[in-house]
Amino acid sequence: MALLEVNNLALSFAGLHVIKELEFSVEEGSIASLIGPNGAGKTSVFNCLTGFYRPTAGTIIFNGKSIIHKKPYKITRQGMARTFQNLRLFKSMTVLENVMSGMHCRSSAGPIGAILRTGAQQKEEAEINEFCERCLDFVGLLAVKDRIASNLAYGDQRRVEWARALATQPKLLLLDEPAAGLNHVEKQQLIGLIKRIRDQLGITIFLIEHDMGLVMKVSEKITVIDYGEKIAQGNADEIQNNSKVIEAYLGKEEDEIV
Ligand SMILES: Nc1ncnc2c1ncn2[C@@H]1O[C@H](COP(=O)(O)OP(=O)(O)OP(=O)(O)O)[C@@H](O)[C@H]1O
Ligand SMILES: [Mg+2]
Repeated sequence: MALLEVNNLALSFAGLHVIKELEFSVEEGSIASLIGPNGAGKTSVFNCLTGFYRPTAGTIIFNGKSIIHKKPYKITRQGMARTFQNLRLFKSMTVLENVMSGMHCRSSAGPIGAILRTGAQQKEEAEINEFCERCLDFVGLLAVKDRIASNLAYGDQRRVEWARALATQPKLLLLDEPAAGLNHVEKQQLIGLIKRIRDQLGITIFLIEHDMGLVMKVSEKITVIDYGEKIAQGNADEIQNNSKVIEAYLGKEEDEIV
C-alpha cells in the first residue's frame, strides 16, 4: 500500500517551472530515494510535501488523507518528519533540548499547565525526557545529551537532527542529503542507521541523496527527476542502466566539449 501518493504535482516561481506534473508513490515500510542533478527540484519536492512550499497544482495523499496546502506543523503531526539539506539545530541548546523541541508537536500540556507545573505537566515532561533519550540512544548520542549542540562534530550534529525527527514519532521520514559532509565511516554508519530505522522502528524512509553508492545500497525504489520532471523510476539495477538517467548526469555524447 502506498503511504505517500503524489499526482500531477507542479510548482512555479514567477514563471519558472520548478516541478512539472510529477507523479510518484512511496510504499509503506519501504526505503525509497529521489535523485537528480543539482537544481533538479528535489528539495522543492520535499518542501511541497512538508507544507513549506505551496504547489501550483496536483494532489498529495499521505496515509490516506490529502495534505496539500496544510501547514507544516499539521503535516508533522500527521506523521511526516524531515531533516534539512543544511543543519538547522538550535545552536545554543543542548543535544537533548534540541531533540525535545521535535517532540513538542506531540505534547498536550497547554501554557497554563506549563506555568503552574501541574502534576500532569510534570509527568508529561518526564515521559518526553525519557522518550527523547531513547531517540538519542537509537542514533548513538545518549552519552553527549547534555552537551551544547553546536560543540559537537558535524557528523554528530546531523545525528541530532535525525533524533529530533524521530522524536516527532513519524510514519514517514524525509532525509535531504543525509550523507552530505560525512566521512566514509560515518556514511557506513548512516546506511546501518537508515536500515535500522525502517526495520526496528517500522518507519518508511524517503531520501534525497547525491552519493550514488549509498542510494544504490539502501533504496528499494528510486525516482529520478531532471528539470522538475520525472525521467525514470525503478530499482537500483534499472536506474543504473537507464539511458535517460546516464544522460542527465553525464550529458549527451554530442554535448561533449572538444
Ligand atoms: N523559493 C524559491 N524561489 C525561487 N526559486 C526557487 C526557490 N526554491 C527553489 N527554487 C529554484 O528551483 C530549482 C530547484 O531547486 P531545488 O533546491 O529544489 O533543487 P535540488 O534538486 O534540491 O538541488 P540540489 O541538488 O543542488 O540541492 C532551482 O532552479 C532553484 O533556484
Ligand atoms: Mg536540494
